[in-house]
Amino acid sequence: MKRRNFWLGTAALLGLASTANAQITNSAHDFSGSGWADGEICKPCHTPHFADITMPRLWNHTLTTATYTLHDGSTGTATADFDVASRMCMSCHDGTVALDSFGGRNGSLYIPNRSKIGVDLRDDHPVGSEAQYPPLNPPTWWSGAFRPATKGSVANGADRLSLKSWVNPSGGTQFVVGCTTCHNAHNRGNFPHMTAITNASSRVCLTCHIK
Ligand code: HEC
Ligand code: HEC
Ligand code: HEC
Ligand code: HEC
Repeated sequence: MKRRNFWLGTAALLGLASTANAQITNSAHDFSGSGWADGEICKPCHTPHFADITMPRLWNHTLTTATYTLHDGSTGTATADFDVASRMCMSCHDGTVALDSFGGRNGSLYIPNRSKIGVDLRDDHPVGSEAQYPPLNPPTWWSGAFRPATKGSVANGADRLSLKSWVNPSGGTQFVVGCTTCHNAHNRGNFPHMTAITNASSRVCLTCHIK
């Protein structure tokens, strides 16, 4: 009976896949041919059953517990400083959790260096606590340098990017820039580097920065 439910659940999740099909299939996140993902696409990240109940989106991958050097050089963690989706991304991309650590397995294959963001974020665009949009108390240089945010997103003409919710450990929920502000895990649109919109002529950057 359990087994039968499992396959029905898988079919339901694959039903969702048909919308994402042309997008994640053959993208850098299609691990179905890799030999370590059981020949499936969604499974390293999502599962129809036995998901991690501390996370949204039926999450199936072991979560990172790394300590980071944040962009400004201070110390931080994914739980305290990132939005939830960025923590999901870094559970492969910081290089501390194996790619094949999903569904309760202990894996041994790690992200290649070319795609490894690492735990030192001084050389990376700020995310989470360091990229509040707008900051709780905007500094004078904020106005005129950034486009206004409306309802959790920022737009420049037809280009629009979503801000992410971050729970500030010292109180309140704020909109911030996260990995999935600039990227789409399912590579919708199939832009190079899985960006959320095309970055031709730096359109991702110009969506927020007035330059
Ligand atoms: C490499 C990891 C990864 C893979 C593989 C993956 N997803 Fe996701 N998925 C995510 C992440 C991360 C989020 C959360 C994105 C956010 O909240 O910004 C997400 C969110 C979702 C959502 C919620 C709606 C949305 O788009 O935000 C659905 C539905 C979903 N995924 C379905 C699927 C299906 C079906 C597959 C397989 C065809 C799949 N995903 C493959 C990482 C992945
Ligand atoms: C299950 C592990 C896993 C998770 C979770 C994951 N990734 Fe990846 N990602 C990979 C692997 C593996 C590659 C391909 C590495 C390579 O071949 O260089 C990759 C590649 C990428 C690339 C490079 C694409 C390119 O063509 O240059 C981007 C960008 C990326 N991931 C962003 C994200 C973001 C954003 C998230 C969270 C929404 C995320 N990843 C979550 C494993 C993961
Ligand atoms: C402000 C926008 C932005 C944010 C936030 C962002 N990225 Fe990226 N990322 C990009 C762009 C743009 C590229 C492509 C760079 C290029 O064209 O060379 C990229 C490239 C990548 C690559 C491919 C390797 C490389 O450096 O070329 C990976 C992997 C990646 N990002 C993962 C992540 C993860 C994980 C997060 C969250 C911690 C994240 N990104 C946050 C904009 C962003
Ligand atoms: C979704 C909005 C958004 C997008 C898209 C975006 N940025 Fe940013 N950027 C921010 C925020 C927020 C900060 C942090 C401001 C602060 O210090 O509080 C920031 C900071 C920066 C900084 C200053 C970092 C420092 O060390 O002080 C640079 C440079 C920068 N961004 C460049 C880029 C580039 C290049 C891109 C495109 C790849 C990009 N940004 C895309 C919102 C964005």
